[in-house]
Amino acid sequence: MCKLVLVGYMGSGKSVLAKKLAEKLNISFVELDDLIEEKAKMTIKTIFSDKGELYFRKLEHQLFLEKMESNESFVLSTGGGTPCYFNNHEVLKQTDSVSIYLKASIDTLYSRLKNQRESRPLLAQLGEGELREFIAKHLFERSYFYNQAKHIVVVDDKSIDDIVKEIEKFLL
Ligand code: S3P
Repeated sequence: MCKLVLVGYMGSGKSVLAKKLAEKLNISFVELDDLIEEKAKMTIKTIFSDKGELYFRKLEHQLFLEKMESNESFVLSTGGGTPCYFNNHEVLKQTDSVSIYLKASIDTLYSRLKNQRESRPLLAQLGEGELREFIAKHLFERSYFYNQAKHIVVVDDKSIDDIVKEIEKFLL
């Protein structure tokens, strides 16, 4: 059984890398946000606007636990906030899984996120001028939780293939 869990800030490349890794390892790719949307029968954007963030976080916690407690093999792309609520960061240390923090610098995240604010509920209200400072503060607050992952991979200026190779070494 192989449970590979990718964590990191929005824009760190979790989904793209998880898909690629799942393909290479021939196991299923799971996007936690998709599980949440299926369960709530609403988009993430609508969950935030109509039900509020707490509702989202509870659902996120429940579905994260369900997946981690299952006996399936998968590569899980978590949401940027997943390790930072309830005891989710403790669950990352579970012995039958490999968790990886995709560590991106503020500059990398800013350049990737500046044109994607609208689709991301936590960033949608921010002006371009406020975004950099928001990311810097938010990343600082969240780093403690991301750092609970078993491995850390710096992703700045690296190709997808190189990051995949780095991650595969942790699975040997
Ligand atoms: C969030 C990140 C999003 C999504 C939700 C909240 C966060 O996932 O779960 O909008 O708190 O950082 P991605 O990191 O996949 O964008």
